[in-house]
Amino acid sequence: MHAAVVTAFGPADVFELTELPDPAPGPGQVAIDVTHAAVGLIDVYLRQGLYKDQKGLPQPPYVPGLEVAGTVRALGDGVEGLRVGEPVVTLSGTGAEGGYASVAVVDAAMAVGLEGSGVDPALAVAAVPNAATAYLALTEVAHLKAGEHVLVHGALGGLASAFPGIARTLGAAGVTGTARRPSLERARASALPYDEVLASDDFAEAVGDRLFDVVVDPVGGQVRTDSLRVMAPMGRMLLVGNAGGDWQHTVPTNALWGGNLALLGFAVGYYLPDHPEQARPAARAALEAIRQGLMPIDVQTLPLSQAAEAHRRIENGSVGGRLVLTP
Ligand SMILES: NC(=O)c1ccc[n+]([C@@H]2O[C@H](COP(=O)([O-])OP(=O)(O)OC[C@H]3O[C@@H](n4cnc5c(N)ncnc54)[C@H](OP(=O)(O)O)[C@@H]3O)[C@@H](O)[C@H]2O)c1
Repeated sequence: MHAAVVTAFGPADVFELTELPDPAPGPGQVAIDVTHAAVGLIDVYLRQGLYKDQKGLPQPPYVPGLEVAGTVRALGDGVEGLRVGEPVVTLSGTGAEGGYASVAVVDAAMAVGLEGSGVDPALAVAAVPNAATAYLALTEVAHLKAGEHVLVHGALGGLASAFPGIARTLGAAGVTGTARRPSLERARASALPYDEVLASDDFAEAVGDRLFDVVVDPVGGQVRTDSLRVMAPMGRMLLVGNAGGDWQHTVPTNALWGGNLALLGFAVGYYLPDHPEQARPAARAALEAIRQGLMPIDVQTLPLSQAAEAHRRIENGSVGGRLVLTP
């Protein structure tokens, strides 16, 4: 198979395109002929070596890539409910590697059939995993209720942009986004189902007296602290990322006590392996949101040979949608 291999932790030029033996599925796994592989900020963090000491995460040389779309190539022992040739998309939770290749092996529970969905594989891999994450975060963790108001930071980000559509399907009364000033006009012009998009440096003043029941924060840093000022009593903030890159930032926890607030961490890659039965219902919710037109994600495609370029574009923040590699 073709694969883009991270040969060492470091800058994007550590990628090498190479040929490797085709992997075969073990018990409970499926092999997939990959047509599209998602690229996310987490892939960049892993390549940079940010998590190099974290147990269970890959060490070079490794093939990155958490999520793929393609067709089932082979079934491992004991796999039911999927057939060879079936179009599928996979969710995170399959281990932090393997997607940037022409063949990938994943746990069968993380592979979701696309037949009859009408969703093309590029959009599926761009939207379904993040939308399934949004669904699990909003239902299982933040317990979003119909009629509640949601605030989403980094409005155009790959993960963030899945939240407004899922929040709508769950009956949110309103969804406000925030974006940095250079991205603000693009975010306001996008077809994502936000009611409004505010500048991330003064959203807390701009909202006036309005308060939010659920805040979605994949950005961290100052927007996380500022969010405490706009949360309704019994408000929940989902901590789902740190795209701003301020790893030292802390929040004043006494504000939680006084405000009856909760901060809730959620990482789908660690959640789904413990709850594999939730993968397909979450993916079905994601596909339904796509069907309703609530996931108008801008998908950009690059060949696998340009994996390094894909990472550079994510690092310099020039994507504004989702990047997908084609082997
Ligand atoms: N919890 C989970 O299960 C899960 C799943 C997937 C991803 N993640 C995490 O979520 C985060 C985002 O990942 P992604 O793939 O969505 O990345 P992405 O597509 O690159 O999006 C990052 C977003 O953050 C915004 N941003 C960056 N720095 C900012 C700052 N200082 N202030 C305000 N906004 C800022 C960017 O805004 P601009 O548009 O202005 O550049 C962009 O909208 C990462 O930390 C990733 O690890 C978590």
